[in-house]
Amino acid sequence: MTQATDEKPAARPHRGELLEVEIDSLAFGGRGVARAGGYVVFVAGGLPGDRVRAEVTKSKRRFAEARAVELLRPAADRVAERCVHGGEPCPGAPWQGLPYELQLSHKRDQVDEALRRIGGLDGFELEEIAPAVEEWRYRNKLEYSFGRSDGETILGFHERGRWDRIVAVEDCLLASERGNAARNEVLAWARRESVPAYERRERTGVLRNLTVREGRRTGQLQTRLVTAPARFPKPPVDLHTVIEGDSGGTSGPTGALGRERLAEELGDLRFEMSHDAFFQTNTEMAEQLYAVAGEYAGLSGGERVFDLYCGIGTIGLTLASRAGEVWGLEIVPEAIADAEQNAERNGIGNAHFRTASARTGVRPLLEEAGRPDVVVLDPPRAGLSQKIVRRVLECEAKRIVYVSCNPTTLAPNAAQLVEAGYRLRRVKPVDMFPQTPHIECVALLERDA
Ligand SMILES: C[S@@+](CC[C@H](N)C(=O)[O-])C[C@H]1O[C@@H](n2cnc3c(N)ncnc32)[C@H](O)[C@@H]1O
Repeated sequence: MTQATDEKPAARPHRGELLEVEIDSLAFGGRGVARAGGYVVFVAGGLPGDRVRAEVTKSKRRFAEARAVELLRPAADRVAERCVHGGEPCPGAPWQGLPYELQLSHKRDQVDEALRRIGGLDGFELEEIAPAVEEWRYRNKLEYSFGRSDGETILGFHERGRWDRIVAVEDCLLASERGNAARNEVLAWARRESVPAYERRERTGVLRNLTVREGRRTGQLQTRLVTAPARFPKPPVDLHTVIEGDSGGTSGPTGALGRERLAEELGDLRFEMSHDAFFQTNTEMAEQLYAVAGEYAGLSGGERVFDLYCGIGTIGLTLASRAGEVWGLEIVPEAIADAEQNAERNGIGNAHFRTASARTGVRPLLEEAGRPDVVVLDPPRAGLSQKIVRRVLECEAKRIVYVSCNPTTLAPNAAQLVEAGYRLRRVKPVDMFPQTPHIECVALLERDA
């Protein structure tokens, strides 16, 4: 490894090189931005105002990527990191060194910047960001990985950017005390019964992942263990998934040993979900997110609403009492089965759900249901393809409510909608993920009558 500093312009940094840099700002995705010898360096673990020693992990022609290995001078406004595992800051809470107020203002600024710079959009009202109800212990779902350290099985998070290194966790401050206790119980079982962690490099061993999910309002807990095919004593979990081969995923054939479905409440509705179905990871803030979506939908009782990317039906069912009818579309069949049961469970008779991809499902839905007055969109981080935006345009809805977990994909989607005649009216960020750079927001687009 060689040493370089930002004082003298250097040659293009190479992988493994150590740089001493000052972090100027934060990039989308949360890394610090620094300059070294004319290069932009994205530094994982660096916050604005920090001076850090950073190891280059990737070097491209115009920029480099690095990770902070030593904090040489902390930013004046840094706060003490609280979620620390064996001396290492929690990989799940990379912004915990930033005061919460600053986290909020960075997120609001990044939404604004994405819409203006990436989407070329203006003239919209950017509302204040809704702060989280809980700054810590707010996650209702966490996924852990098994590993090995000093000959012992450990359970925790992947080190940032490292698939082969696990940070052992004892008390994660993003999870509830009950969630932590459930994880520790499974680890204790693994050690007691000498069931080894799966080693991806050698393709040996057994234990891969543990997911702990919690119904914050119902008090229910659900644990799912993911393993390689093997025989071992009965584990203290609710579900057991077996994965053959070397995929890094966690989906596979799953057997029930305990609680098969988890229940949670949002507002006055009760939802049940199968383990494969998506559910917002911050229960308290999901209520606020859906309240904003409801306000933007502007329903007066008779409207037809399309809820595209509906998951287990949470948004559509929340809106159903204020709408004429709701039609949900979702690609995961188990989630649609959950949505139908959730409608029934809550006595909602004007909601209908269809399993289909948004790409191929919108036209048949238009034929079956007729044109919607309002379309709600809540896609995964990748946002909508241009083709799916065109399908949404064919709906000719008066209003589009776009719930986004990634402003950098919301921006081009919104720009395409604006290009086709919609106006971006209002945008409200909602902080679902304190201590992390993840940003959620709701956007309202309207078509002139
Ligand atoms: C961010 S989640 C939102 C779910 C739901 N609206 C909620 O708030 O819980 C996105 C959902 O889109 C679904 N999905 C992903 N790709 C899809 C596609 N091409 N067509 C339809 N649904 C899709 C996922 O399975 C997931 O349930």
